Amino acid sequence: MRRSLVVGNWKMNGTLASAELLVKGIIAGLGDNKADIAVCVPYVHLPKVSELVENTALAVGAQNVADKLSGAFTGEVSAAMLTEFNCKYALVGHSERRSYYGDTDETVAARFCQAQEQNITPVLCVGETLEQREQDETFSIIDAQLNAVINLAGIAAFGAAVIAYEPVWAIGTGKTATDEQAQEVHQYIRKYIAAKDQAIADKIQILYGGSAKPDNAKGLFAMPDIDGGLIGGASLDAESFLKIYHSI
Ligand code: PGA
Repeated sequence: MRRSLVVGNWKMNGTLASAELLVKGIIAGLGDNKADIAVCVPYVHLPKVSELVENTALAVGAQNVADKLSGAFTGEVSAAMLTEFNCKYALVGHSERRSYYGDTDETVAARFCQAQEQNITPVLCVGETLEQREQDETFSIIDAQLNAVINLAGIAAFGAAVIAYEPVWAIGTGKTATDEQAQEVHQYIRKYIAAKDQAIADKIQILYGGSAKPDNAKGLFAMPDIDGGLIGGASLDAESFLKIYHSI
């Protein structure tokens, strides 16, 4: 049985004060749910949030990580720096990074490797745009996004990683993929990995992201290959985020 995981992606939202309130609200409502839970927060909120989550079931993560070890890379934050704030996860290849900040399959793969070098679990985000879906390119896009990492890190690297399937057309749009649409791609991803390593495919957590909300999470999470969610908008409200978490 795979453990489920729900990850909040706060994106570029909030203040230190609102971050503190949100984290306290989440911790207060964790209960004894058996699934894993984390929040990926803006870098500058890491010191505060990592202190607040200490000795709780809530883990903290970053929304990106540098593709290099250290040096003259202005504006970047290295994986080693993230470990100083107990980051358990780092998102890599979120579609907003790919589309607004020039991340490519290759740089995403390098970020993935940097995270793993420091024992941070990369959450590799993959997904197609609406245009790509309409052109029947969904699976070839996913192949390319996975292959870049497999080529650089090898399939074994997926033994310590999470994959998030996030159809770009569903992110922040209120247009969630149907349970069946999401399951179809999740199953595809798992089979793709299984063809290279069955044990890793059986074990890896594959999250769904894209307008997941309290009212649609249960259906999505009930699908056999959906192991949880990467939650944007709905993770900015403790009650909504907890409802999603408890619907696992
Ligand atoms: P959303 O974002 O839940 O607001 O659609 C998901 C994400 O971008 O990770």
